[in-house]
Amino acid sequence: MNSTRNNELENEDMNPVLRTDAFLGETHIVTGAAQGIGHAVATALATHGAQVALIDLDEGRLGEARDEIKKSGAPEPLVVATDVTREEDVQHAVARVLEASGCINGVVNVAGITRDARIPKKSFDDFKLVVAVHVHGTFLFMREVAAQHWHPLFKGNGNKPLDDGANRFIVNFSSVSARTGNVGQIDYTAAKGAIEAMTRTAALEFTGYRVRVNAVAPGPVKTPMLAAVPPEGIEAMKGRTLLGRLCEPEQMAATVIGIADPALSGYTTGQVFQANGGMYLA
Ligand SMILES: NC(=O)c1ccc[n+]([C@@H]2O[C@H](COP(=O)([O-])OP(=O)(O)OC[C@H]3O[C@@H](n4cnc5c(N)ncnc54)[C@H](O)[C@@H]3O)[C@@H](O)[C@H]2O)c1
Repeated sequence: MNSTRNNELENEDMNPVLRTDAFLGETHIVTGAAQGIGHAVATALATHGAQVALIDLDEGRLGEARDEIKKSGAPEPLVVATDVTREEDVQHAVARVLEASGCINGVVNVAGITRDARIPKKSFDDFKLVVAVHVHGTFLFMREVAAQHWHPLFKGNGNKPLDDGANRFIVNFSSVSARTGNVGQIDYTAAKGAIEAMTRTAALEFTGYRVRVNAVAPGPVKTPMLAAVPPEGIEAMKGRTLLGRLCEPEQMAATVIGIADPALSGYTTGQVFQANGGMYLA
């Protein structure tokens, strides 16, 4: 079999269901769910039985994502237009999800932006915005779900670990560039390094809630985020991977399913999964 056919097989014939109904009865929050990886993650979680809360800036695009998922026969998602950098927005979003479902099992913090420029030309406003979306957004969703839901459950359990068998997880989004660095991305790489560090601290703090907290550090994934990269840049990225190709959003979503599913990753917490096609060997 030649390598082109091999890639087609991996991209097109991959069974999107890893474990049927793996998340039936669970509610998961996905940020950045209007497009790209977040959209693929939300679709994959719903396909595995979860009710998903779709979080992004634009209510219109979220509505389209909800309709698509509902049409597929998966549980109807909730839609909460939210700016992840705004504390009141995130507080409101978590309260809305709890009101609607009474329980939050998982959070996948995917929302992200880039504002590439080399250091001498990098505006402070852009630096702060990139840090805000990634670092503040990830912190705020972890804090709010813990403060409004998991901590009260822990208190109600007499401050004893929540060994009730429920699946609870957080998956945060880093990038391979947290390790390799990336020209033009002083803000983005700083934010992704911070997300990896926050993942370890949250894993330590949330142990009593029995929440597994992990991060994914992808290599290049075929999403609108890469639209600004010229074709020669895309070819160079492919060449820096051992697999010689970009990742499909659905394949990155399957990695998230594998982390979220306790049957597959139930003994894994505080880790950063390198899903980078071999671009960086950790
Ligand atoms: N695509 C890649 O090659 C790649 C590589 C490594 C890591 N990542 C990471 O994966 C994640 C998803 O990337 P993607 O490629 O799907 O990006 P994308 O640009 O396609 O999608 C990002 C989504 O986040 C949303 N968003 C941005 N700011 C927001 C805010 N303030 N509040 C709410 N939503 C907001 C956008 O509206 C968009 O729908 C990001 O964290 C990114 O850093 C992507």
